[in-house]
Amino acid sequence: MDDLYVLKFGGNAIRGKEAMLRLGGEIAQMMKDGAKVILVHGGGPEISEEMERRGLKPKKVAGVRVTDADGLEVAEKVLSNLNKDVVECLTESGVQAIGMPGYHCTLCVKKAPVETEEDGKKVTVDMGLVGEVSECDPTALMDLLEMNIVPVIYPIGKDKDGNKLNVNADTMVAGIAANVSCKEMIAITDVPGILMDVNDPGSKLDKVTLKDIDDLIGKGVISGGMVPKVEACRKAILAGVSEVRMVNGTDPECIVADVMKEGSLRGTVITK
Ligand SMILES: Nc1ncnc2c1ncn2[C@@H]1O[C@H](COP(=O)(O)OP(=O)(O)OP(=O)(O)O)[C@@H](O)[C@H]1O
Ligand SMILES: [Mg+2]
Repeated sequence: MDDLYVLKFGGNAIRGKEAMLRLGGEIAQMMKDGAKVILVHGGGPEISEEMERRGLKPKKVAGVRVTDADGLEVAEKVLSNLNKDVVECLTESGVQAIGMPGYHCTLCVKKAPVETEEDGKKVTVDMGLVGEVSECDPTALMDLLEMNIVPVIYPIGKDKDGNKLNVNADTMVAGIAANVSCKEMIAITDVPGILMDVNDPGSKLDKVTLKDIDDLIGKGVISGGMVPKVEACRKAILAGVSEVRMVNGTDPECIVADVMKEGSLRGTVITK
């Protein structure tokens, strides 16, 4: 599909009705200009807050949430509720939308253990009930897009035996973007793009290559939630997505609408 944009937003970037309606307005504008849109959303802060309310301790390794059975239950409940809110806001913005879990269009496998450092020691962490996308069947998504309906997907997956898995939203969106032919994948986050200094919004890089990303991770410039995000961008690019971008969902001027303009320098563009 020529003008298909696969968008993803995180819970810090778009939070609350006002922000969702603003994004809805921009998606409505993009669709008037001929775009088709698939929307994937996360909900990191909301999940952490609900876990804390229930006395559970959120833990992330390399930006990805370690998930046990209780954590998975919380993630699924919070994400499915958020999904309803997103669909409602899109509808209110004049965009037809249908919500669904990731397992309606993907198959996942349990994520391999992650090597990290804890208290100065190298350790291997079993991430628990966390998934990676292994397959995506875009047939139903394509049917919805043909009817100008936006599929709104929350990142809960299932393995081949039907066990549910928590999937980082960036990982989910890359698994989907890699299997639909889209013009651009865009991660909407809470920073202007990849920054050389996380505390200085003016240090944004307009364009980076996969090689630059390796260097930036090696130097520790890219850390936390930015790690799965750039890894997701890498996966999408290697799978043939021609343009991958990161933009700021908290930008009062514009979030995504103007990326359809040729040569737009909004956010950070990642290329091979
Ligand atoms: N070099 C960097 N440039 C920009 N942000 C960075 C960098 N290194 C680390 N970060 C962190 O990555 C964060 C974005 O990832 P994060 O996972 O927190 O958000 P999200 O994926 O948009 O939302 P969520 O995970 O809640 O769905 C930024 O807020 C910033 O703190
Ligand atoms: Mg994240």
